[in-house]
Amino acid sequence: MLLYKSWGSHAVVLVVTLLCDLGSAQFPRQCATPEALATGECCPGLYPQQSPDPSDICGVTMGRGLCMPITVDARPHGSQYKMEGLDDREYWPIRFFKKACLCNDRFYGHNCGSCKPGWTGDDCDQPIVVERKNIMALNETERQNFIAALNLAKNTVHPDYVIATRHYNQLINPESNVTNFENISIYDYFVWTHYYSVSKTFLGPNRGSAGGVDFSHEGPAFLTWHRFHLLQLERDIQNLLKDPSFSLPYWNFAIGGNRCDICTDDLMGARSNFVGNLLSPNSVFSQWRVVCEDVEDYESLGTICNSTAGGPIQRNPAGNSARPMVQRLPEMEEVLLCLEVNLFDTAPFSSNSSESFRNTIEGYSEPSGQYNPTVRSLHNLAHLFLNGTGGQTHISPNDPIFVLLHTFTDAVFDEWLRRHSAGFAQYPQENAPIGHNRRHNMVPFWPPVPNSEMFATAPENLGYSYDIQWPSKYRVSENYTMAFIL
Ligand SMILES: *[C@@H]1O[C@H](CO)[C@@H](O)[C@H](O)[C@H]1NC(C)=O
Ligand SMILES: *[C@@H]1O[C@H](CO)[C@@H](O)[C@H](O)[C@H]1NC(C)=O
Ligand SMILES: *[C@@H]1O[C@H](CO)[C@@H](O)[C@H](O)[C@H]1NC(C)=O
Ligand SMILES: *[C@@H]1O[C@H](CO)[C@@H](O)[C@H](O)[C@H]1NC(C)=O
Ligand SMILES: *[C@@H]1O[C@H](CO)[C@@H](O)[C@H](O)[C@H]1NC(C)=O
Ligand SMILES: *[C@@H]1O[C@H](CO)[C@@H](O)[C@H](O)[C@H]1NC(C)=O
Ligand SMILES: *[C@@H]1O[C@H](CO)[C@@H](O)[C@H](O)[C@H]1NC(C)=O
Repeated sequence: MLLYKSWGSHAVVLVVTLLCDLGSAQFPRQCATPEALATGECCPGLYPQQSPDPSDICGVTMGRGLCMPITVDARPHGSQYKMEGLDDREYWPIRFFKKACLCNDRFYGHNCGSCKPGWTGDDCDQPIVVERKNIMALNETERQNFIAALNLAKNTVHPDYVIATRHYNQLINPESNVTNFENISIYDYFVWTHYYSVSKTFLGPNRGSAGGVDFSHEGPAFLTWHRFHLLQLERDIQNLLKDPSFSLPYWNFAIGGNRCDICTDDLMGARSNFVGNLLSPNSVFSQWRVVCEDVEDYESLGTICNSTAGGPIQRNPAGNSARPMVQRLPEMEEVLLCLEVNLFDTAPFSSNSSESFRNTIEGYSEPSGQYNPTVRSLHNLAHLFLNGTGGQTHISPNDPIFVLLHTFTDAVFDEWLRRHSAGFAQYPQENAPIGHNRRHNMVPFWPPVPNSEMFATAPENLGYSYDIQWPSKYRVSENYTMAFIL
């Protein structure tokens, strides 16, 4: 099982293969039908409740959008992937659908019924920028509201998307037209999309699955993919609460030492007094059940994770006695060093890229940018520190600390974009691992969204900002951690 590529070469890649896509293999519920799959069109009406009349496809009569052919990037991807034709996720999402709603300017969503990030209101004409705050700075009420929102998301069926539990060629039984789609909760959908993006490629009955592919890690899309992943969850919770100002907080994990400051019962759950790698019964998260943990089954049987609940969240901060390197959290000095790395990514755009900001914040390099196969730093280190569910790539989002760890990683990314005035030219156009080219649509998100859309500063382009004061300059001799407030 793959622990954020714990040891050695990144060849460990783990993952399982699955099918589907976000939304469902995830697709909009209205498109999870034999008819929609047969036509290859996923263009739901704006008012699905008026079906079977598809009333207003993509909101066209309201000027919101049009049903259009999906554009996929045909530029070459890196040579790491050699299973061309075998994987449903190639040229995402055209194995499933060839047409989708293309929404006009400020409209967004599978039916253009929602607003682009940064806009709100019935007509999407009111600008909005939500502020993502330090979870440690939330007051009692804000903490309770955040925990309650996560828990509600864990226990509410996703209103828009269903997941596919079989690969494309087994999605529909042609005799009966029975489809292999399932409902899933909003939070578990967040877990599922991550799992699907890292799963291995199924080679066929009795042939098992092959790794070497990862649509969301170990390549330039690491940052853009996780950025969209968080935006989707944030949007889903805003809709759930009917509160467009809801924002995900962040965890400044760069506090060094071996103590998990957010592992308390009023935040992400204290350690259980009874079993050292479980959560305290006083935390609601002790009741959460993990999904997508039967990775060996999916890989051998050629199935895909479904919504079946498994065991509890495991977490043992600083508890990996066999690996002293991961018994501490990153330091703020290390974050400041990585912000100085000038290039966004470097060939081979993988987990052994040197002098790459992306590979450095992801955590396969020294914080200064030098690739070092023995190092696990920053984002990877924060995951591995958790020594449990949150440290294993295919299931890590099951531990809600994942959300906070990634908002902070995203905050560092945003600060890097700002400081380096980065333009699209910094993001590789081709020869990145499959799924990681600038114009590749991110697997398995729906509607299709290319990496380039997430490669822009958040407050100006994506409707959120971080409440963080970064020091203006890296000065090694001073006491950063004390000098500034995160
Ligand atoms: C299955 O769905 C397809 C597409 O709508 C349809 O053409 C076919 O007749 C259906 N088959 C059965 C057995 O209902
Ligand atoms: C907590 O913060 C909110 C703003 O998010 C504020 O409205 C509320 O009054 C604060 N509560 C307390 C007890 O300070
Ligand atoms: C999901 O739940 C809805 C509402 O209960 C139901 O109508 C629908 O058939 C379910 N979809 C799937 C794929 O199970
Ligand atoms: C759902 O997943 C569980 C656990 O992996 C498996 O036992 C079950 O057969 C799956 N259900 C379907 C419908 O595939
Ligand atoms: C946690 O640490 C123990 C002790 O070193 C190790 O055996 C185990 O594999 C780690 N578990 C995870 C999920 O990282
Ligand atoms: C980087 O990893 C790739 C495999 O992903 C390998 O082919 C290449 O030789 C490695 N390069 C370096 C400099 O280690
Ligand atoms: C750094 O912190 C130490 C211990 O708190 C303090 O004695 C020292 O003056 C600080 N140095 C600077 C430059 O602030």
